[in-house]
Amino acid sequence: MAEKFDVVDVIKVKRDGGELSPEEISWVIDAYTRGVVGDEQMAALNMAIFIRGMNRREIVDWTQAMIDSGETMSFASLSKPTTDKHSTGGVGDKITLPLGPLVSSYGVAVPQLSGRGLGHTGGTLDKLESIPGWQADVPNDRLMQILEDSGAVVAAAGAGLAPADKKIYALRDITSTVDCIPLIASSIMSKKIAEGTSSLVLDVKVGSGAFMKDLNQARELARTMVDLGNDAGVNTRALLTDMSTPLGLTIGNALEVRESVEVLAGGGPADVVELTCELARNMLELAGVHDADVEQALKDGRAMDSWKKMIRAQGGDPDAALPVAPHTHDVVAQADGYLTKLDALALGVGSWRLGAGRARKDDPVQATAGIEIFAKPGDKVAKGQKLLTLHTETPDKFERALESIEPGIEIGDTAPTAEREIILDRVS
Ligand code: URA
Repeated sequence: MAEKFDVVDVIKVKRDGGELSPEEISWVIDAYTRGVVGDEQMAALNMAIFIRGMNRREIVDWTQAMIDSGETMSFASLSKPTTDKHSTGGVGDKITLPLGPLVSSYGVAVPQLSGRGLGHTGGTLDKLESIPGWQADVPNDRLMQILEDSGAVVAAAGAGLAPADKKIYALRDITSTVDCIPLIASSIMSKKIAEGTSSLVLDVKVGSGAFMKDLNQARELARTMVDLGNDAGVNTRALLTDMSTPLGLTIGNALEVRESVEVLAGGGPADVVELTCELARNMLELAGVHDADVEQALKDGRAMDSWKKMIRAQGGDPDAALPVAPHTHDVVAQADGYLTKLDALALGVGSWRLGAGRARKDDPVQATAGIEIFAKPGDKVAKGQKLLTLHTETPDKFERALESIEPGIEIGDTAPTAEREIILDRVS
């Protein structure tokens, strides 16, 4: 059968700053998924979009075409409302781990279909896989049963959800077209809308460790995603949150699980607790649960009970000891003063080089690799004081990790005047 369009003409429309029609968009995404449009042609179109942008109607059509490329899920048969959270990715961002069990302890289903880490931001599945026995692959019927029984699931997103996005995202990754608002927004929201959640809270990260380095860009990304979600019938809100320095005091898979369990036990670092509670309140409100005292649910063990159920339902042993790295190296303060910078990107790349993350899709990750943090920006430090401990299974990695980490640490004579704000803005 003859194709409806010639891809060269479609690329030319966008290259010259024109608007792609709904028919052109749905055809080009479908033809690329079928292999009729080649990688080099889709790469050229992505670059034209990167440079020329897309208007709101084009972004909606692009998102819908990616949803239509695969299957969609539905949680309508569950006896409870569903709500989900998506983070645009950050360093030390383990929030999904305490958040799912916390929200599900209020009788709301939290289906978190996640991916693995790529580059300097860690993946939730990689973190949970450091728990002995825990399995990321959950067949759909089992997923529904766990949601009904225990309420929270973190599972690998099936290959059937928005397959066009998987192909396009892999191509964007190697053609420098990832950090483009229309393409990020449609990529994330096509998967979230296909997943079938009825409400969604987006955690849009801002700062050195995030895709969006400044607040205005992040606001535009948040606005675009919130509009896409609401237009598709998913009740959507966004928080813009700080990613200039890592979240909490750990980066790396097993280390982040350990810190998440501390939060679930009513302790943990203040920034992780604050963001977990704020996201939980927003998710619960969208699911119809108002005035929840989520801090109390962390303190009184309800969230911990849900965590244990969630981990056991996927074969894990929540009481088993987590693996520990055989090699460590301390980084100490080079001067007396105040820690003025602990850069998220520098530490994220450092942790990745220690073995916590992967460069390619199928690379293995080390469960134990990562960084423990002993001082945060604003803290007074003394020369020789321990700031970080690096962990790895392969000590030859320390040198490359330190090349990234050391320039990310700054000590000054005066304390920063402003307190760090975690939540920078909201979009609904
Ligand atoms: N995460 C995604 O799923 N897609 C993007 O484009 C960026 C981050």
